Amino acid sequence: MQSVHIERYGGPEVMIHRDVAVPTPGPDEVLVRLAYWGINFIDVHTREGKYARSRTYPVTLPTTLGMEGAGTIVATGSAVEGLHPGDRVAYCIVWGSYAEYAAVPAWRVAKVPDALPLDMAAASTFHGFTAYYLANDVARLAPGMTCLVHAASGGIGQILIQLAKRAGARVFATTSTNEKEEVARQRGADVMLLYDDGRFADAIRDATHGAGVDVVFDPIGKATLRDSFRASRRRGLVITYGSVSGSIGDLDPIELGEAGSLFLTRPRLADHLADSTTIRRRAEDIFSAMLDGSLKVTIGGRYTFDTVEKVHSALEDRRMIGKPLLIIAAH
Ligand SMILES: NC(=O)c1ccc[n+]([C@@H]2O[C@H](COP(=O)([O-])OP(=O)(O)OC[C@H]3O[C@@H](n4cnc5c(N)ncnc54)[C@H](OP(=O)(O)O)[C@@H]3O)[C@@H](O)[C@H]2O)c1
Repeated sequence: MQSVHIERYGGPEVMIHRDVAVPTPGPDEVLVRLAYWGINFIDVHTREGKYARSRTYPVTLPTTLGMEGAGTIVATGSAVEGLHPGDRVAYCIVWGSYAEYAAVPAWRVAKVPDALPLDMAAASTFHGFTAYYLANDVARLAPGMTCLVHAASGGIGQILIQLAKRAGARVFATTSTNEKEEVARQRGADVMLLYDDGRFADAIRDATHGAGVDVVFDPIGKATLRDSFRASRRRGLVITYGSVSGSIGDLDPIELGEAGSLFLTRPRLADHLADSTTIRRRAEDIFSAMLDGSLKVTIGGRYTFDTVEKVHSALEDRRMIGKPLLIIAAH
């Protein structure tokens, strides 16, 4: 089968296309014939080596990239119960999806309803699971609250806006271009802002009569985090859930005090998706919301195996809107 590996960390050029044997599922695994995999910014971080020493997401070289896919089960391990060949499933945070088949721990997969196309399942699993736990479990958004969603046209950003609106919050959102701004506006953001070298924080303070927002969702890191503090209200919550611009390496906790006794958290999906009950409940929430039309997920582009390097470059150059998906046409 086709697959995309790395043997060393680096730019898109370290990705190696290789023909390898179809994996054999272990006793607790299912073998999924992948119809689609999602390409995510975390794949860029993995390729660059940001998870080389991670305990949450350990990566050992060589590794097959990718951690999200949707497809059909073609074989099950001897200890697997409740899943069968022919079941349509989706999963995330298991490495190895840049391939035609993946062996996945059975507890990590969620069944996909018949009415939901597999491309939509692949586009919404990782980003949907993330946005759900950030909005509901970490921020606990509720009617009357205010929040700021950075990178609002991105895969997670678009879903966060919709979940925040559903919870009754007022949503400020940032993007880098007017084109991206329009996408976030269509998802329901109340106030759109450009980053404007950090002046988004001043604009938010003006719009909230000096108070700032209750919650900031920040996946950008170094380039925005200190201004996110300025955009937050006294005793507000700043959720730094990613670092696409690099990590802030010199934060003294006293800054949080000076910024108004802020709460700062750096959560990870793995800690909010630690058992099969949670995975299946969350998948049910997301898939049913997509089916009833209350949650819209944008597929930003569809690609083939030979273009994966270009997609990584487009992600790093901020050219992507929504979720890039790779279609496996070779089965
Ligand atoms: N903690 C968790 O549980 C968790 C789970 C999933 C993902 N993540 C992290 O969340 C982050 C976003 O992931 P995603 O897949 O949703 O990506 P994404 O939002 O689809 O893409 C990243 C966006 O960030 C913005 N951006 C700002 N500065 C950038 C820079 N220097 N380089 C590239 N993009 C930049 C871009 O939008 P603008 O041009 O509008 O700024 C771009 O669209 C990643 O760091 C990922 O690892 C964390």
